[in-house]
This record gives sequence, structure tokens and C-alpha cells, in this order.
Amino acid sequence: MIIAVDGPVAAGKGTLARRLAAALDYGYLDTGSIYRAVAARILAGGGDPEDHDLAAQTAENLQPGDLERDDLRREAVGQAASKVAANQAVREALLAFQRRFAVQPPGGKTGAVLDGRDIGTVVCPDAHVKLFLTASMEARARRRHKELLERGEESIYARVLQDLRERDARDSGRETAPLKAAEDALRLDTSEMDADQVFAAAIAEITKRQRP
Ligand code: CDP
Repeated sequence: MIIAVDGPVAAGKGTLARRLAAALDYGYLDTGSIYRAVAARILAGGGDPEDHDLAAQTAENLQPGDLERDDLRREAVGQAASKVAANQAVREALLAFQRRFAVQPPGGKTGAVLDGRDIGTVVCPDAHVKLFLTASMEARARRRHKELLERGEESIYARVLQDLRERDARDSGRETAPLKAAEDALRLDTSEMDADQVFAAAIAEITKRQRP
């Protein structure tokens, strides 16, 4: 069983995907963290995330330990990740790893939940369940701002909103695997929903797909 969870910045993909994986005992892959890891390595080395060849090389040489870096969730890394993610060579280098995880999740689990931007459209177009989460720009900016403050990072709401706008535009406007809902995805607008309501809606969809 493969469950794809896609959507824009801070739509609640990670929260939902993590909960689904725990409840169903499936493997969980946060694909954004892979793009973030490539970006973080480039930034740490003083490089430019828009340097095509450097980004491609960094993606090809990514090590499992890079996914454990403690700077991955920083907003600057998120911005750089969306630049790196527009690079087709980077996306190609990371595709096989994501597909392998989906088909053969580690630990012999019987299913996998992947969250990202192109899981239902490119990485796993045959996923059994596809969920596309959205929320208003303001709701998402509020959530991300709160998340950053809770982690003890400095955060200014207006900057978060601006970052989110830029990243959404870049992720939706790029030529390779742009952010968009698969035609067969269930769209959930989570602006007025809490995490429990989103989880319940996702479980209902999974149950429906299992027993049509
Ligand atoms: O958690 P948040 O919504 O801030 O972003 P993320 O899922 O950690 O992803 C960071 C960046 O990686 C995104 O802005 C996308 O540009 C890119 N990404 C992508 O292109 N494809 C994916 N499957 C996942 C992330």
C-alpha cells in the first residue's frame, strides 16, 4: 500500500503523513527533507543553490547521514531547497531512492507514506491513495510561524508569509514536476480543520479505497 500526500508549503503534509504511518505501521518518507539535505550541504559549503552542476553533484553524492542534519527545517534551507528542487538533474538523482522506499519500505513494513510535491504525479503515479492538502496562505503562514517559534527560532510573520509566497510560486511554476494535484487525488482544504479532522478524513479515504 502506497499513500501519497502532496501539497504546498506548511499545508500539514508532514503532520498527517507521520500520523498515518504510525497508525498503520507503515514506513514514512519526508521527501522534502531530501531536497532540504541537498540545499543544506550546498549552503554549508558556501555554494549557490542555483549552481546547476554543483546541485546535481551534491544530489548524486548525498549520504544517509545528510538527512539527519539539524539545520534542515530552517526557513533559509527551505528556500534553497525549492531552488535546488527546480533542477531536473537533482530530481532525477533523487527519484530512484524515493521509489525504492515506496515499494520496499525499510523494516519489512507492508506499506509506505510519502509526502512531498510530486508523489502522486511523478514519484508514485500508481499510489493506492493520493491526498492533496491545501490551506489558505494566511493559515499556512500562521502555522509555519508558530512552528518556528516553538522550535526556538527567530521568526517574523511577515517574512514567513513572503517566503511562503516565493516558494509556492517557484514550486508551482517550475517546468520539472511542478506542484499540482494528481487528477485522482482527494483534495482537502485544511484551513479550518485541525490535525484530528484531517487525519479522520484521510483514514476515511484509505478505508474507501481498500473496500470500494
Ligand atoms: O515542509 P515544507 O512544506 O516547508 O517543505 P518541504 O516539504 O520540506 O520541501 C522543501 C522544498 O523541497 C519544497 O519547497 C519543494 O521545492 C521541494 N520539494 C520538491 O520539489 N518535491 C518534493 N517531493 C518534496 C519537496
